[in-house]
Amino acid sequence: MTKKILVTGGTGYIGSHTVVELQQAGYSVVVVDDLSNSSLDVLDNIEQISGTRPAFEQFNLADAAQTDDFFSRNQDIAAIIHFAASKAVGESVKIPLHYYRNNLVSLMNILDGQLKYNISNLVFSSSCTVYGQPDKLPVTESTPRKDAESPYGNTKRVNEDILQDSIKAYPQLKGIALRYFNPIGAHPSALIGELPLGVPQNLVPFITQAAAGLREQISVFGDDYDTPDGSAIRDYINVVDLAKAHVVAIERLLQNKNKAGYEVFNLGTGNGYSVLEIVHGFEKATGVKLNYKIVGRRAGDIVKIWADTSYANKELGWKAEKGLEETLLSAWNWEKRVRGIN
Ligand code: UD1
Repeated sequence: MTKKILVTGGTGYIGSHTVVELQQAGYSVVVVDDLSNSSLDVLDNIEQISGTRPAFEQFNLADAAQTDDFFSRNQDIAAIIHFAASKAVGESVKIPLHYYRNNLVSLMNILDGQLKYNISNLVFSSSCTVYGQPDKLPVTESTPRKDAESPYGNTKRVNEDILQDSIKAYPQLKGIALRYFNPIGAHPSALIGELPLGVPQNLVPFITQAAAGLREQISVFGDDYDTPDGSAIRDYINVVDLAKAHVVAIERLLQNKNKAGYEVFNLGTGNGYSVLEIVHGFEKATGVKLNYKIVGRRAGDIVKIWADTSYANKELGWKAEKGLEETLLSAWNWEKRVRGIN
């Protein structure tokens, strides 16, 4: 029997890539998404890639009654990957209650459903944002977490705690928190990718939109940081590599290979690239010249962070494989397809 995996937020950026990888690994997938930041067309494109349309239900998991009703009809779910969340850092500062309610209550409703309907396994989407600006680089899974810079970041930290405390209290639960570094790029088919609403806040979507002529100029936020070229450094990971790590995490839970009830893994490449290296890397990978200017630092940004991937590599047997230029080219191919550029 094929195992059924619930992917919340499965029409979103990382979620959709993960649905494809799960299907290609032989799982059947049910997606729950409220479509607040994605659209139904994504299901068509997933189906084009994998040959299978995932089951789909549209509702918000912060609604306890709807979540309970869903689980009561889907008691055969073997494991859950919980992506669904609000994720705009700036917006979270303006409407914190929305972020806390949406992101915390949805996880609690899912955990209630797991307990009531005996579904043990959960993979939770966390973020390297929980490390803040680390005192030592690269960051390992035991690098101390710091106070969050934003309500969004705090929801990741608190949700990790909710999961850990619940697993401690209810031994039938098992969970893995995956701390993503900076996911970028798109599926090599260019059928799914990142489609931000409005002006992109993240670097690579802004770059691809600028290259497509939708934005006039890229602002590089700061060139006076303590880094080799003065711009800030991040660990950019290909979204397909990231999606594959979720399949490995699911298999780890289903095969009882996890060492503790609650585990944490960093998902990055181990390489740090500066903003200017990304800009020039994009130009090199695509042959498209970018118009950029250096502006002031962005409030709340950290200077530099990249992952120590040795624990994830060893324990999960997983490694990010795709290089930066290939990944930037995939982001461009996706943007071109969305905008109808040849
Ligand atoms: C941000 C969030 C992080 C979140 C992630 C998911 C912060 C502090 N962190 O990561 O918590 O999980 O998004 O979406 O907001 N940059 C420019 N010009 C631009 C856009 C970005 O120079 O137009 C720079 C930024 O200053 C940063 C780097 O590019 O140095 C990456 O920025 P971004 O893609 O927004 O990701 P993070 O800020 O690392």
